[in-house]
Amino acid sequence: MARKRIPREPLEEIGQGFMKFRIVATAVDLRLFTRIDGRSVTVDDVRSLLQIGERPTRILLNALAAMGLLEHRRGRYRNAPATREYLVEGRPRFYGDMLRMLDRRVWDGYRRLEWSLRNNRPVAADPAIGDTFQTMARDPAAVRTFILGMHSVGAEIARKLTERLDLSRQRHILDVGGGSGLYSIAFARKNPRLRATVFDLPHVLEIAREKIGEARLERRVGTGAGDFFRDPWPTGADTVFFSYILHDWSPETDRGLLRKAAGILPAGGLLILRELFRDDDGPGPLQAAIGSVTMLVETEGENYAWSTYESWLREAGFGRFRRVRLGSSKSGSGFLLARRLPDTPGSRRVPTK
Ligand SMILES: C[S@@+](CC[C@H](N)C(=O)[O-])C[C@H]1O[C@@H](n2cnc3c(N)ncnc32)[C@H](O)[C@@H]1O
Repeated sequence: MARKRIPREPLEEIGQGFMKFRIVATAVDLRLFTRIDGRSVTVDDVRSLLQIGERPTRILLNALAAMGLLEHRRGRYRNAPATREYLVEGRPRFYGDMLRMLDRRVWDGYRRLEWSLRNNRPVAADPAIGDTFQTMARDPAAVRTFILGMHSVGAEIARKLTERLDLSRQRHILDVGGGSGLYSIAFARKNPRLRATVFDLPHVLEIAREKIGEARLERRVGTGAGDFFRDPWPTGADTVFFSYILHDWSPETDRGLLRKAAGILPAGGLLILRELFRDDDGPGPLQAAIGSVTMLVETEGENYAWSTYESWLREAGFGRFRRVRLGSSKSGSGFLLARRLPDTPGSRRVPTK
């Protein structure tokens, strides 16, 4: 009986993954898609635009066309619809800054993955300085690349979040580690009575203020500078929002952050946790599992399971959980809602770190 053929193609796809990524990231760095947007161009046009030779130009354009990012007809190339939407600078859902961040930062960490596996430590943190974020703070260009990368990955998520999240009864949201302020801006746009405070390290808030200014939301979206471990948190919020924060830290540190959130929220206050969630009973979904590898090279954390977060939240004084999934089943993207439970007689208020 003939032996059943086991296809090798999935492995070939994996092997080529980095090639595709580097081709697109390089085209983004050359601002190719932005420069040719709205035009149908020849190899010669692009050659003079990029100031490179005919052979490399032709090879690059053909690779991008074969990958479906450019359309090719009778010797002319133009941006495909997804390229127009996500890879042209200035578009609201521009994803190029995320590709830049992966290319300039995360790629380097992945090259040293074996070191992280052997040492159970992030390659991105200099122990003489502190954690990854303190290490990054020494290099303003790296901070900008990182925060704009997070901003660009978040644009699509913020759209889905605002569609699914009813904040019409909330008054003030504290966006802990809010980065560029993307989510606070999106929430404030959707909810005209909502105020927001983006709480982050001072050098990051410079970028947040730029984005808040561009959105003309200075009157309702403010900033609070501080270290969320060492400093007191801004008070007065009835809602605490964490996006891509808890996956950066160890379970013990996360439990401390949740206790701090409980400490500033009134009874009934809302906590929103946005993450890539791991399944309760398995290794996936795929993006959450791979994202944990990124956390291994970059941070002390990982993508934790829905039920893990719920157990930490319960311990910190939260209940009435609701899980909401966003996007495809492969991503694990979603948010978890929890309410601050009233302190019952005899229960001690949870100590904050
Ligand atoms: C992965 S980013 C997430 C940013 C944003 N919430 C988002 O989803 O796009 C982590 C954020 O936590 C902030 N952060 C890290 N350590 C911090 C600290 N000790 N105090 C305050 N913010 C901190 C970083 O500056 C960064 O903006």
